[in-house]
Amino acid sequence: MKVAIIGGGPAGLYSAILLKKQRPETEITVYERNRADDTFGFGVVFSDATLDNFEKYDPPSYRRITEEFAYWDDIAVHFRGTVHRVGGNGFCGCSRRKLLLILQERARELGVTLMFETEIADEADFADADLIVIADGINSRFREKNIAHFQPEVDLRSNIFAWMGSTRPLDAFTFIFQETEWGPFIAHAYQYETGRSTWIFETDPETFERAGLAGLDEKQSADRMAEIFGWFLQDHPILTNRSTWRNFPMIRNQRWVKDNMVLLGDAKASAHFSIGSGTKLAMEDAIALADAMHRAPTVAAALQQYEQGRREEVEKTQHAADVSLVWFEHVDRFWEFDPVQFAFGVMTRAKAITYDNLTLRAPDFVHQVDKAFAKQVRARGFDVDVGKPLAPMFQPFRLREMTLTNRAVVSPMCMYSAKDGMPQDFHLVHYGSRALGGAGLIFTEMVCVGRDARITPGCAGIWNDEQQAAWRRIVEFVHANSAAKICLQLGHAGRKGATRLMWDGMDRPLEKGGWDLISASPIPYFPDSRMPREMDRAAMDAVRSEFVASAERGQACGFDMLELHCAHGYLLASFISPLTNTRSDAYGGSLANRLRYPLEVFEALRAVWPSHKPMSVRISATDWAEGGVTGDDAVAVARAFAEAGVDLVDVSTGQTVRDSRPIYGRMFQTPFSDQVRNEARVATMCVGNITTADQVNTILAAGRADLVALGRPHLIDPGFTLKAAAWYGAEGVFCPVQYLPGKDQIFRNSVRDRQDYEELKIKAKPKTRAELKAEAAKPLAAE
Ligand SMILES: Cc1cc2nc3c(=O)[nH]c(=O)nc-3n(C[C@H](O)[C@H](O)[C@H](O)COP(=O)(O)OP(=O)(O)OC[C@H]3O[C@@H](n4cnc5c(N)ncnc54)[C@H](O)[C@@H]3O)c2cc1C
Ligand SMILES: Cc1cc2nc3c(=O)[nH]c(=O)nc-3n(C[C@H](O)[C@H](O)[C@H](O)COP(=O)(O)O)c2cc1C
Repeated sequence: MKVAIIGGGPAGLYSAILLKKQRPETEITVYERNRADDTFGFGVVFSDATLDNFEKYDPPSYRRITEEFAYWDDIAVHFRGTVHRVGGNGFCGCSRRKLLLILQERARELGVTLMFETEIADEADFADADLIVIADGINSRFREKNIAHFQPEVDLRSNIFAWMGSTRPLDAFTFIFQETEWGPFIAHAYQYETGRSTWIFETDPETFERAGLAGLDEKQSADRMAEIFGWFLQDHPILTNRSTWRNFPMIRNQRWVKDNMVLLGDAKASAHFSIGSGTKLAMEDAIALADAMHRAPTVAAALQQYEQGRREEVEKTQHAADVSLVWFEHVDRFWEFDPVQFAFGVMTRAKAITYDNLTLRAPDFVHQVDKAFAKQVRARGFDVDVGKPLAPMFQPFRLREMTLTNRAVVSPMCMYSAKDGMPQDFHLVHYGSRALGGAGLIFTEMVCVGRDARITPGCAGIWNDEQQAAWRRIVEFVHANSAAKICLQLGHAGRKGATRLMWDGMDRPLEKGGWDLISASPIPYFPDSRMPREMDRAAMDAVRSEFVASAERGQACGFDMLELHCAHGYLLASFISPLTNTRSDAYGGSLANRLRYPLEVFEALRAVWPSHKPMSVRISATDWAEGGVTGDDAVAVARAFAEAGVDLVDVSTGQTVRDSRPIYGRMFQTPFSDQVRNEARVATMCVGNITTADQVNTILAAGRADLVALGRPHLIDPGFTLKAAAWYGAEGVFCPVQYLPGKDQIFRNSVRDRQDYEELKIKAKPKTRAELKAEAAKPLAAE
């Protein structure tokens, strides 16, 4: 068998090594346009987990690599004169040049042919090869040559960065966030060998322009960086090596394989440097390819297996990299944060590190975070303990004159169990038990403002006296038996009305017994859905009056808060999204026009809703669809509602059109809440696949939302908040007197459970290489 590898970077060389080991008789040649010892780049970084993989696949190169490594455990964040450190991260750095020399040496030893200073222009040169590995890096010529087949997507990110180096020693992965007269600069730095560290500098395009970097050559821009970070560099120089300023390209390919050609490494998928995974991805691609070649009977089958088996892992890493790079692009959102909260945000930005996880590794740091959070709460007039602060989830919150005892919220969830809009005993028990379970705030399901405003025949309403009385009974139960507040969510289904109960086919049209639908524009949801009528001014007036009448009934019931549902493609949302609003009058076109009617309804409600009671609006902050609402639009929408008097924006996403493509994952909508909160400067509630109290605390402590709503978790666990209170030792949580013996028990047991959990976590965690190295270096204790 014959293998041609184009590119002698980490992906090309490591795949040559692994393939040659597997089948020594294979003729493998690596073609590299550079010289063998071209020094290009500075250090590379691997996590302990990646090194474990290298150890398994090729022990000799692993040993040589790790002999050369610098190890560190801590991440340090420097911001506004403070430094916060967190240990237990287990990273290693090594010179890129040395890594390449080690891989070259090992490849040669195994009998791989290495051809340097050989630039390949045409894959036809390898007509006799059984396999052609394309590992020619981020600007891959061969990916571009076959662009129609691989279908690459190159997303050039807005920030501008350059890799540089320094002799400054570092004992931690170091982030420095530096204010300058031109704007913020960020340094990502780590040591990779004695006397050498990598420094990646990053800034936004406006700051780059203002700092005049565009006009400077490599040496001059290094001098500028040395000036900016001089206080930290302590006279160590900034070094350059092809250190040009660039925009980072996030690269993805629809296809990775063409005939017997396969893309590896940066050519196939890049990962932003802020998660340090470029070289890791490249070498793990080589591992995946070798595994597939080992298992599959033919090259074609192996390449198919490689792509199928590896894609999810690569996409996960790229997603983490995306989330991380977006954090750095929007660092100005957090610039005014308390430094410890800022540092917490840096640590938890990519979701892998959480509040509980940091509590195990850096309890003092988390204590500082809790203190800072409690201080902010105190500054808002609450008499909370700052010395021994409660976890953020159990800090109180106020909207107008409504005070919540904690930040956990039962998300609005339609129960499809009303009869003619009438809430039943089911609703009393459902809402009542969640209030008894300790949540600070309970939302009703979407309560419809009229018969024809319903989504399904099972939707609840508040358009007549009987319904009002039934809701009043629920509100009175909640007030009499719990500390929870209860918010009425009002909505109109619009074009998504007259559909079946959730368990009979979500959003599918009713087979019989439907009703007329209205929407911003006459566009059905499914092609076979009932056609909605475009609302004229008379219909707008009528619906607005229905909303107002329902709000007045809500006030008569004693609800503490009112939410206007402008999300998920229902009537008011259908005005906001350009995908569902194609009107040519004053209610269509620009965002301002599309917002006109929802704002008009909101203002009419605000006028009748008592001024001491808060109001929120639920929005879909993105449609997850081409041409639809984006996060930036959501900021404008939030600003408009804030001007109209909204107290809280409830940030959800999607469900506007049926061919949307949401990117699901843990806490997947939280970045939108973060954007709205910290750009529009309005209080937010986030929601969406948030399942643990740990995540709730992570979101709150990082300043990404003010309240956290949980929908599905509350469906199966009404006592979510009480249980979390026991875990975090929040003694003051409300518990009905009838349930106090249960509270005593769970609080007592939780102390022990938590100790067991912490011991288990600590015992189960293997020592990092940095810890092992530190132990080995310790002198033996005297007997
Ligand atoms: C300027 C720069 C500096 C970097 N510095 C660092 C750093 O300090 N630390 C770090 O961790 N990561 C760094 N990276 C990122 C890191 O190099 C990549 O994520 C990783 O090396 C990917 O490995 P690869 O094998 O896919 O690609 P690469 O390492 O880019 O290797 C591709 C190789 O293919 C060769 N090649 C390209 N076209 C041809 C051709 N037609 N014929 C023959 N050979 C060809 C190139 O010369 C190159 O050696 C840097 C990237 C760049 C662009
Ligand atoms: C069965 C069901 C019913 C829902 N009903 C409503 C509703 O009436 N109003 C609303 O704004 N959101 C509704 N949602 C959305 C939830 O409030 C929540 O945003 C969503 O379930 C994501 O949160 P989770 O991952 O915590 O469940 C509903 C979701 C589900 C699954």
